[in-house]
Amino acid sequence: MDRNLAIELVRVTEFAALAAAKYIGRGNEKLADQAAVDAMRSSLNSMTIEGTVVIGEGERDEAPMLYIGEKVGQGGPKVDIALDPLEGTTITAKGGENAMAVIALAQDGGFLNAPDVYMEKISSNVSKKDKVISLEQDIKTNIKELAKYKKVNIEDIIICILDRKRHLGYIEEIRSLGSRIKMIDDGDVSAVISSILPENNIDMYYGIGGAPEGVLAAAALQCIGGFMQGKLIFKNEDEKKRALAVNINNFNKTYSLEDLASGDIVFSATGVTDGTMLKGVRTNKFTGETHSIVMRSKTGTIRHIVGNHNFNKKNLEY
Ligand code: FBP
Repeated sequence: MDRNLAIELVRVTEFAALAAAKYIGRGNEKLADQAAVDAMRSSLNSMTIEGTVVIGEGERDEAPMLYIGEKVGQGGPKVDIALDPLEGTTITAKGGENAMAVIALAQDGGFLNAPDVYMEKISSNVSKKDKVISLEQDIKTNIKELAKYKKVNIEDIIICILDRKRHLGYIEEIRSLGSRIKMIDDGDVSAVISSILPENNIDMYYGIGGAPEGVLAAAALQCIGGFMQGKLIFKNEDEKKRALAVNINNFNKTYSLEDLASGDIVFSATGVTDGTMLKGVRTNKFTGETHSIVMRSKTGTIRHIVGNHNFNKKNLEY
């Protein structure tokens, strides 16, 4: 994939983040999301790509824009797109931490066409060949194996998990072992990524979140390394039907990182609110500052980009 696409992609998440940031703490998730979607779509449409959204805002009948199957771009290389214009709509509405605009491009077929169901996820900065952790093992075994591998005490291990009722069993098991927990309200794309980057002090991400977010996180991990697995969770027959419609017929499969995202990938995320990995948007009347991370799987390059945006320039282009 053309390496310049990575830089072009930063504009897309910057624009979405700037738009969503206007709604930080204003208690309206829908408006925040819509602003990010509109901005992301218009900047994507200015890119020289022939893009197909494979992970998007939902199916065509439920999402007017950036729906699964939507074509975007001005023409150019064919790419599949996984996106979440605003990962953390509730976070943004409440002015909490870790909301971001996120997108990844892959060559044709590079992303699992995951339906919008839940996915059980596990990730950590361990190598696949060492077979340390797995969704096939229970959580206590995973923690013990990880501590052994890292040569640390079980009490030193910090597991990041979404604060949800469905995780109460896991939380109890983790605590009974004496390990520690970083509980988050939302935003497991950044949590999975944070479990790989040593500076974030998270040893493992574990638990059930959105499947589309799982694919986006996997796209990032293909660029930065680390281990991840995902398993789709179906609540009812209707969700299974939606999976069958995208050719998923093994409902018990444990997906490897490569099954979730593979090949030549570029990934970009821009902070909307301050978070573990990214600073949120800073604005005053005339300027806005954004912090983005952009990465490429081919080279493993990770760039942190601070953008200064001048709102006075009427011809500001994204
Ligand atoms: P939204 O941006 O769609 O609000 O998603 C936020 C999020 O926390 C994801 O990061 C996570 O995968 C999912 O929601 C968890 O779903 P739920 O809130 O239903 O537990």
